[in-house]
Amino acid sequence: MLRVVTRLRVPLRAVVADLPPYVPGVRVPVGAAAFKLSSNENPFPPLPSVIATIVDGAADVNRYPDMHATELTAAIADSLGVEPECVVTGCGSVAVLGHVLAAVIEPGDEVVFGWRSFEAYPIAVALAGAIAVRVPVPDDGRLDLVAMAAAVTARTRVVLVCTPNNPTGPAVRSAELETFLAAVPGDVLVVIDEAYIEFVRDPEVPDGVAVLAAHPNVVVLRTFSKAYGLAGLRVGFAVARPRLARGIRSASTPFGVSHLAQLAAVASLRAKDELLVRVDAIVVERARLLAALREQGWVIPDSEANFVWLPLGERAAAFGAASARAGVLVRAFAGDGVRVSVGETEATDALLKLTADWRATAR
Ligand SMILES: Cc1ncc(COP(=O)(O)O)c(C=O)c1O
Repeated sequence: MLRVVTRLRVPLRAVVADLPPYVPGVRVPVGAAAFKLSSNENPFPPLPSVIATIVDGAADVNRYPDMHATELTAAIADSLGVEPECVVTGCGSVAVLGHVLAAVIEPGDEVVFGWRSFEAYPIAVALAGAIAVRVPVPDDGRLDLVAMAAAVTARTRVVLVCTPNNPTGPAVRSAELETFLAAVPGDVLVVIDEAYIEFVRDPEVPDGVAVLAAHPNVVVLRTFSKAYGLAGLRVGFAVARPRLARGIRSASTPFGVSHLAQLAAVASLRAKDELLVRVDAIVVERARLLAALREQGWVIPDSEANFVWLPLGERAAAFGAASARAGVLVRAFAGDGVRVSVGETEATDALLKLTADWRATAR
C-alpha cells in the first residue's frame, strides 16, 4: 500500500535559498506612456530586414533549431576573424556566463569580480558552487584592476572583468588590462564581459578578441541584446581558445538558441553597418546626456556604454520612484545609485528635466 509521508519537504540548496534576487528593469505597464530607460535596451525597433527574416523563420518552429547554431557561429567567427571552433553561442550572454562557470568551477573555488557590477554575477557564481569575492569599485566607477589582481589567491578560478562596467559605465584600458593579465596566473580564467563593446569610443580601450589572441586564459563574452537590438530573442556568445570553447559547449544547454534567434542574429550581422549607424546615434545622445547632467552639477563617471550612472547613494530609491511617477523608468540600486539607459531624444529631455528639478529641490 502507498504510504503517504507528510511533513517532509524537499530542501532547496542553501545557496539557492540565499540567492540575491535579479531585479529586472521596471517595465512599462500595458497601456501606459513611459520611457523605459531601465534595462539598457536599444531604443530602436528591429530593422525591417531582420523582422522579415524572423517572420519567414516562424514557419519552421515546429522543428528544433540547429543545435550547434552552425550558420550563426560561422557568421560570428567570420566577423571577428577567429575560427568557428572558438565561438560558443547561448541563450543570451548571461546564460553563456553560466556555462563558462559550469565548465571550470569546482565547489568552493573563488570568483573575483568588481562590485558594484552586473547584478547577474553574484547569482551565477553562487549557482556554480563558487565563492564570490567582491572588490569595491571606487567612486569614479572604474574597475580597480590592481585590487582585483591582489584579490586572486590559490583558490581563485575565475575573474570577471565587466568592461564597460554595468552599471557605472567606464571601460578598462589596454595598459591596465595588460598589467592585470600579467599578474594573474595562467590557470585562472579571465572572463572579459563586453556586452557594451560596440558603444566604446575611447581609443585606449582594447578589443577583447585581440586580447584573447595573446592570452589563452581569456574568454570574451558578447551579446546581440544591446547594439544589435535583439534583447527579446536572447542570443549571446563566448569566444575562447578551442579547448576551453569545447568545455563551454559541453556545459551548454542543448538547443539553447532558438531558430528565430539564430536567423535574426545572422540577419543582424549582415545588416551590421546599418545597425552601427544607430549605435553612433546612441553614442551622440550619451554625450549630450552626460554633458547636460554635468552642466546641472552632477558628478558622474564617464560612460563608454549605453547608460549613465547617477551615484545618488541613500537617495537612489527615492529618485527611482520620482522618476517613475514622471513617466521615466530607470534602474535604481537602493543605497547606491541609479542607472539610466540612453534612449530616445525625448526620453533624454524628460530625464534631464527630472534631474534638474531633483537638484533644485533635493540638494
Ligand atoms: C555586463 C552585462 N553582461 C551580460 C549581459 C547579458 O546580456 P544578454 O541579454 O546577452 O544575456 C548584460 C545585460 O544587461 C550586461 O549588462
